[in-house]
Formats: sequence, C-alpha cells, structure tokens
Amino acid sequence: MTDTDPALPATLRQARPEHTRIAAEVAAHDLAYHQNDAPTVSDADYDALKRRLVALEAAFPKLATPASPAAKVGAKPSEKFGSIRHAVPMLSLGNVFADEDVAEFDARVRRFLGLAADAPLAITAEPKIDGLSCSLRYEHGRLVQAATRGDGFEGEDVTANVRTVAAIPEELAGDGVPELLEVRGEVFMEKPDFAALNGRVVEAGRAPFANPRNAAAGSLRQLDPAVTAQRPLKFFAYAWGEHSALPATTQSGTIEAFGRFGLPTNPLTILCRSAEDLLAHYRAIELQRAALPYDIDGVVYKVDDLRYQERLGFVSRAPRWAVAHKFPAERATTTLLAIDVQVGRTGSLTPVAKLAPVTVGGVVVENATLHNEDEIARKDVRIGDTVRVQRAGDVIPQIVEVVAELRPAGAEPFRFPHTCPACGSAAVRGVDEKTGEADVVRRCTGGIHCPAQAVERLRHFVSRNAFDIEGLGEKQIALFHAEGLIRTPSDIFKLEERDKAGLKRLANREGFGDVSVRNLFAAIAARRTVPLNRFLFALGIRRIGETNAKRLARHFGTPVAVAAAGTAAADPASEAWSELRAIDGFGDAAAETLAEFFADADNRAEWDSLLAEVTAEPMAAAAAASAVSGKVIVFTGSLERMTRDEAKARAEALGAKVSGSVSKKTDIVVVGPGAGSKEKKARELGLHVVSEDEWLALAEGRTVQSTEPAGEVDAAPAAATD
Ligand code: IVH
Repeated sequence: MTDTDPALPATLRQARPEHTRIAAEVAAHDLAYHQNDAPTVSDADYDALKRRLVALEAAFPKLATPASPAAKVGAKPSEKFGSIRHAVPMLSLGNVFADEDVAEFDARVRRFLGLAADAPLAITAEPKIDGLSCSLRYEHGRLVQAATRGDGFEGEDVTANVRTVAAIPEELAGDGVPELLEVRGEVFMEKPDFAALNGRVVEAGRAPFANPRNAAAGSLRQLDPAVTAQRPLKFFAYAWGEHSALPATTQSGTIEAFGRFGLPTNPLTILCRSAEDLLAHYRAIELQRAALPYDIDGVVYKVDDLRYQERLGFVSRAPRWAVAHKFPAERATTTLLAIDVQVGRTGSLTPVAKLAPVTVGGVVVENATLHNEDEIARKDVRIGDTVRVQRAGDVIPQIVEVVAELRPAGAEPFRFPHTCPACGSAAVRGVDEKTGEADVVRRCTGGIHCPAQAVERLRHFVSRNAFDIEGLGEKQIALFHAEGLIRTPSDIFKLEERDKAGLKRLANREGFGDVSVRNLFAAIAARRTVPLNRFLFALGIRRIGETNAKRLARHFGTPVAVAAAGTAAADPASEAWSELRAIDGFGDAAAETLAEFFADADNRAEWDSLLAEVTAEPMAAAAAASAVSGKVIVFTGSLERMTRDEAKARAEALGAKVSGSVSKKTDIVVVGPGAGSKEKKARELGLHVVSEDEWLALAEGRTVQSTEPAGEVDAAPAAATD
C-alpha cells in the first residue's frame, strides 16, 4: 500500500469483500504481534492496511462492527475494569453428587409446590460448562453491556472484550426479541483451542494456563480487548437476568427462543419427565464427557415451568428450582510433606496438609484440608505418607486416604499440639454438656492475647460480607497488628488520627505511598456507616454468621437493642432470653454465644469503642420496605394456595419472621381450614387474624375486602400501620 490509496468502491456490495479480506489480514497481523511478539509486516504496511479499513468503514458504516479490527485501533487498555451492579443477582447452584440426591431434588420440588408424586413435573437437564459466567445486556436487540459474575451482585464491566467474541451476537435476530433482555451463560474455551493457545504462550516464554477455564477467564479479563479478540472464546446461553418480557413460559422454550435470536445454546439440553430420566441423561452426558470439545463438570437440572420457578424462588444464594449434579471428584496421589496447624478467629486449630505439588483435575494442588485432629487420627495420616487427594469443583482439596503400603519406615503418628502454635496458650477441646462428648475442635484459650486470633478476627471484620474495607488485606492487617497500630476493629477507625500523630507516617513506608494511604483512609471513612446486620456479622461471634446476624438486625433494629437483649439474656429466666429464642431459626446455641459475648467485659468495651466510631443503621431498605417486613407471622391450619414451606419462604423473603407459636409478640396469624387452638389463642389475645387470601394481598401490597366476619379483624390492617 502506498500514499496513493485506490479510490473507494462505489457500493456496499463492492466494498464488502475487500473489507472482509483486509479485516482478516489485520486480525492475523494483530495476532502475530500480540501473542507471539513477532510482527509479520512492516509498521508502514500495517498502518496502510488499517487506514484502508477505517476509510472503508467511514464510507460504509454498516461495515463498522465492533468486532472489526478497526474498532481496536489505538484502543488503550483501561486501567481497571469498571464494576456493574447486576439488576438481578447472578446466583450459584446447589450441588449434589449421589443418585438419591436427584430423586430428593424432584421430591423436594414437589413437596414445596404441593404436587403429588405422580403429577407431571418437567425438568430440563443440560451440561454444566466449566467456564465463567457472564451477563449480556441487550436493549432493543443490541448488545449494550457485558459483565462477569463477580460476587453475584457486582461484576466487572467486560463489554469491550465481549464485543470481540465472535460467538456472541452484537445484535439479536428474528421475531419476538424483548426490548430488554439480559442473557446469561458461560464463556469458555474449547480444549483444542486451549492447547494451541498454551503452545503459543509457552513459545513466547510465558507460563501456560492451568486449564481451559483459567484460559477463558484470563482471556475475557484482558485489559486490551485486542488480545481478547485473538482468543477463541465460545459462549452458551442458559439463563437470563433482567428482562422486559420473556419469549416463552418455560425454561426450555425460552432457551430455544434464545437460539432463534442467534445465541449459541447447548445442543445436549433435554426435557425430562422423571428423576429416572434425569439420571439417564446424566449417564449419557458422562459417557460423552471426554469426547466433548469443552470441559464440563456435571449436569444442571432446572424445573421447566417458569411459574413454578417463580414460586420456588431462592434459598440464600441458590435457586430452589435448579441443582447441579456434579461428576465424581477427580483424584491423584502425592506425598504429605508436613501438617501445619492454623489458628482461626475463634481460636480453632485447623490442620492443613502441605503436599508435594500434584495436578488434580487440571489444577495444581499443594494444600489440602485435614479438618481436625480426630480426622487425622481416623485416617492415620502421617508425615511422609503417600496420600490420595481429591478435588471437586471449587471445593478445597481433601485427603481421601493414606496408601498404607507406601508408608516410609519410622513414620510416627501425628501429635496434634495441645498448645497454640501462635501464642503458646493451652489449646483445649470443650465438652458438650448434653452429650458429654468432646468437641471436635481444639481451641486456643489465649483469647484477645493470641495474635493469630486477633489477626483472623480483623481479617474477618474487613472481609467482603462484613465491613468490606478495600485496601486492608491480609498483608496490611498482619503488618498493622504486628506494629501495634491496629489491635481491635475499632482501631481501624482510629488509624488516620494515629497516623497523623505518629512519628513514622504510613505514606513514608516501604510498600505504601501517598495515594495508597489516601485511598485506604477513604475506604475506611466510607464504612463509618454500615447496616446493622453487617456490623453484627463482622464481630465474628461464634454462631452469628450472616443469617443469624440478619435475624438479629431484623428483629432488634438497632445496636442498642441488640446489646440490651444480649446482656439481659445472661439470665436464662429473663424475657430477653425467651425473646432471642423466639426469633425464628435462631437456636439455643446462638443465643448462648451471644449472651456470652456480652457477658465478657473486653467484648463489651470493644463494642462500645466501635460504636463510638461507626453508626450501625437498620438493615437494607429493600427488606424493610415490604408491608410485612419485621412482622412476626404464624401460619395455622391448612393453606390452599401454596404449601407451608412456600408460604414461609415467601414471608421470609419479604422480611417477615415466621414463628411456630402464637404469643402477644405475634403480629399476624394466617388461618386456613382446620385451624384450632392457635386461632383460638390469637383471637383471645386480640391479634390480627387473616385468611390466606388476605395474607397474599398483604404480602403483595394489595388491599382486599376482608372475608373475616366484621369485628374480628383489626380495624387497621398491618399494612397501614407499618
Ligand atoms: S444455571 C440461577 N446452567 O455454574 C442459576 N449454570 O454453580 C443460574 N454453569 O454460576 C445458573 N453451566 O457459572 C447454569 N448449564 C448451566 C451452567 C451453569 C455452568 C455455572 C454458572 C454458575 C455456576 C453455578
């Protein structure tokens, strides 16, 4: 090519073949340049080709697709991906391994929906692709945004990269494309493409990818879309997020429609009518597994009818209407080099096996969990042993067994330490008062004096689902703790003040700079107000995990109320104790550890110091907004519209608390046919008694005419008093 470029073609028809040829040529040069560090043309020739491409696209805008290499001209890699909040969270799936679990899934769905064992219930079965999930947002049929799953609520903006994936249409085709549709599916790399890519990577002197999934993830998360463009990524659509309408009323129908819209869908998806059908399809897919061009790690079952899916809803972060039937874990043998004992935030001592590196299911494994000292004794695991290791999906690798014949002479049984490896305090096993049996976990008794516990507690405190403080990672916490800058959570909020007063300013230290210190202080300041449930979870009180923290936050509303109840509950005859126990799902053991927490003077002092620094506000508005949120509800008698499980799940999803017994603390009693003593008691107590239909209306925020005889229903329904 020279400066006297030939004239442009007159029509789009004439321009297209030239554009296709040049685009392919430029793409090939890009590939050679980016991946092999070996340009195959002179810079001048390359520039001329690109100029021609840009000129053609300027004259015929139809040619200017985002996938064109011209779109990548000078594309500067972004510093970091922006984040995208998913309008509908991207959930995970529950896993099952055994055949019985599949029958149980079918039975559980039926129970929840109130379907007889012989009523028709269609369930789809499809391969579980081992890639990374991605959400593609189409508006008016055009791809406008693409995001990775991230933590399920917020992912990375990979729009520019996804636009370079040929398998993902820029525009949806055909009839009935909804105005808004978020398509969800798996981005993956086929095995032969993975092998070829690794060959090139190694040739270029870089470390190869461990498996196709890592290669796919690494390729999609490239800062330079031009690199992604050269990686042969594929996509299967299997789910959806936000949408204005859906093209069908079933899972299978919707995925079929996705296929008509031009989205790739997995051809091994079928509709089954029974648990036996599901298992038969599982076996069939398992047989094909090795021959498939892509990695799969199981089969996913989904209830087909979307109305059923809606009713079934979700439990924590997985749908009730779907489950992943995983293939058996992959195994390998290796040598046990050492057993490290780690100290957790509650003082638990956890043994970790250090292994000679071994590849299991495509991933190099060097650590495996040994659970606890009984487990080590039961398996008689000794240092120097040859052990069989297994890995299932993302689960932490486990030691399955010792290969006894290969035990080296003189290997001694492992002696679990009776003192804490971090602080030297005694490590003991508690005894369960009821059973008289020793607790499986040995715990350090050093309490706040144990540095390992303190560091773990701090790590938990700043973790993602707790205070979520960015820039305060494991390394920084260990450093600040060692230097005495941060000993307790409240110290985190005093860090900036202390730094101002200190002699050795953070910004002047190795590994820190002005910007990183400023960012850290900003991240800390941003968390001076947190929802109460996160605040409670962050404290790391035993048995107060995320769910119980939410229960407490929902029930008590303020930290003052939690502390008052927790303190008074030290007396098991107190009302506070009964109140805690009455919180649905909040067990004796959790109530006990909460009371113990507040009975400890050090804990109480830290609680107060922390609240002097931060504000714990009522839980997220969404859960508090529904008319029944925060209400205590009792269901009695039989329900006709849904099963008891479904009613309970729905009430809880709206922020209500479901209780099994009627008391003056009950807000609403839902009565169905056959209600007996509970209804009687409710009426005696003058509680708000409603029928199932009225309850549904309340839950949905509608108002209905009461079907109850006048005078027996509260004048002001709960919805209005909230
Ligand atoms: S359905 C709400 N179907 O598995 C349910 N997921 O363990 C949405 N995955 O995050 C998921 N193949 O990345 C579904 N055919 C398939 C899948 C699949 C792979 C992944 C997906 C998800 C993870 C859950």
